[in-house]
Amino acid sequence: MIRVIAIDGPAASGKSSTAGLVAERLGWAHLDSGALYRALTLAALDNLGERGAGSGEPWPAQRIIGLADELPVRLVRVGQVFRPEVAGVDVEQAIRGDRVTKLVSAVAAIPDIRTWVNTRQRQAVEGLGVGGGGGGVVVDGRDIGTVVFPEAPLKIFLTATPDERARRRLSQRGEAVDGDVVRRESQALAARDAADSKRRIAPLKPASDAVLLDTTALTLAQQVTRVVELARGLFPG
Ligand code: CDP
Ligand code: CDP
Repeated sequence: MIRVIAIDGPAASGKSSTAGLVAERLGWAHLDSGALYRALTLAALDNLGERGAGSGEPWPAQRIIGLADELPVRLVRVGQVFRPEVAGVDVEQAIRGDRVTKLVSAVAAIPDIRTWVNTRQRQAVEGLGVGGGGGGVVVDGRDIGTVVFPEAPLKIFLTATPDERARRRLSQRGEAVDGDVVRRESQALAARDAADSKRRIAPLKPASDAVLLDTTALTLAQQVTRVVELARGLFPG
């Protein structure tokens, strides 16, 4: 049995925080697949020139992929966590900025880009040797349970209301959480969710066998405990 927990859900629903803490509690590794899409977007913005997302592809797929192989863009394992790197530089902070966030859904909608990312993710997980034995990996994203690891024995789909997610994202960034700002952030998250849900390939949606977890009224600790309990019931030792 492959020892993978897939955590999917819309933007700022708590996927990465939950996945990271669940992994810590289980002594497993954590891979944030969104970080790779973000790192590719950052690399393209810095090297191929600013391009508005518009309605089509911001840059031709082959230019982004060529650049990603050349720089390279990759996931590097540091302890139990995979960190995104561009040209040897850790970009975990740089990929969270507005410039990347505005464009990342358009980049992630390109089929060849998804193939490139999925190959890297599977290689990273294979390198851990999680087919049996002790450890495992918690992977979070949008299509982990549906496309990347459909054989994962535990799939979680996290949700929360758009306003709650907007408040979480603002406090995470250390910004004020008041009326107008929440409304604007909530609209930006909803626009990204819509783009991610409507794309032709690997749209954001729960796998048919995913456990749906509405976290609107939960604390982070509560949702982590819930996932850890489910994992302990499913994965031996
Ligand atoms: O953290 P947040 O929810 O804001 O986003 P993320 O997980 O960093 O993902 C950024 C973007 O990458 C998403 O809006 C999706 O367009 C894309 N993504 C995806 O298409 N598939 C994944 N498995 C993960 C991310
Ligand atoms: O990865 P994703 O975009 O889905 O969300 P995240 O970056 O893990 O979480 C966004 C913020 O919500 C983080 O600061 C979490 O600590 C916070 N949060 C949460 O995930 N769950 C709660 N029940 C409450 C807050």
